Amino acid sequence: MKIAVLGTGMVGEAIASRLMGLGHEVTMGSRTGNNPRALAWAARTGGGARTATFGEAAAPSELVFNCTKGSSSLEALRAVGAERLEGKILVDVANDMSAAGKGPLSLAEEIQEAFPGARVVKTLNTINCGVMVDPSRLSGAHAVFMSGNDREAKGRVGELLRSFGWREVIDLGDIATARATEAYLRLWLSLSRALGTVQFNIALVR
Ligand SMILES: NC(=O)c1ccc[n+]([C@@H]2O[C@H](COP(=O)([O-])OP(=O)(O)OC[C@H]3O[C@@H](n4cnc5c(N)ncnc54)[C@H](OP(=O)(O)O)[C@@H]3O)[C@@H](O)[C@H]2O)c1
Repeated sequence: MKIAVLGTGMVGEAIASRLMGLGHEVTMGSRTGNNPRALAWAARTGGGARTATFGEAAAPSELVFNCTKGSSSLEALRAVGAERLEGKILVDVANDMSAAGKGPLSLAEEIQEAFPGARVVKTLNTINCGVMVDPSRLSGAHAVFMSGNDREAKGRVGELLRSFGWREVIDLGDIATARATEAYLRLWLSLSRALGTVQFNIALVR
């Protein structure tokens, strides 16, 4: 599948590399298109890895990952433009670290509201990027969550998550349920400090 990964940070790199390994055609997007981190990633990854601006990366892609800084995600997606996101699955992995007190909507809802033609699916934002793309790093069963309004889009994203190795993919419901996973960030940060590691996740016991 043709996939755009918008973001040149550690999350963008982890997801783009994993997708390349699974045989997808990946373009890493940045503001400039020739971001040094993106170019270094492409050089390391070898033939086939592409870099471009956010908009150029998204234009030919069937599915777009938003791995940009949460407080700048709307700006990054505005640079892509609504027409290039129309009908596409937009997987939102971002957390807005500055969101406290901003209002009731989650970033995912703000993105869905700003780009009504995109099929936004929030997922993977509750886990460190190393574990996101390789859940087998942690022993035992542990869960990843998914929120979105479009059932078919969630089905496709669920397949992609299973190809990463995820077995327990919990569909929480519509995009408003992303409020819960975005709010979890505070607990995640406290847990990380208490446990002294970023390599952990939630396991559900019924
Ligand atoms: N670290 C984790 O394990 C983890 C886990 C869960 C969720 N997340 C979330 O994943 C996202 C990515 O995290 P990260 O640490 O990989 O990267 P990051 O440093 O949070 O974001 C880097 C990306 O944001 C873009 N950006 C920064 N300022 C911008 C602006 N003013 N306008 C447009 N784009 C801008 C950068 O564009 P350029 O490429 O042009 O510089 C770059 O591509 C974040 O939202 C983070 O909260 C991270």
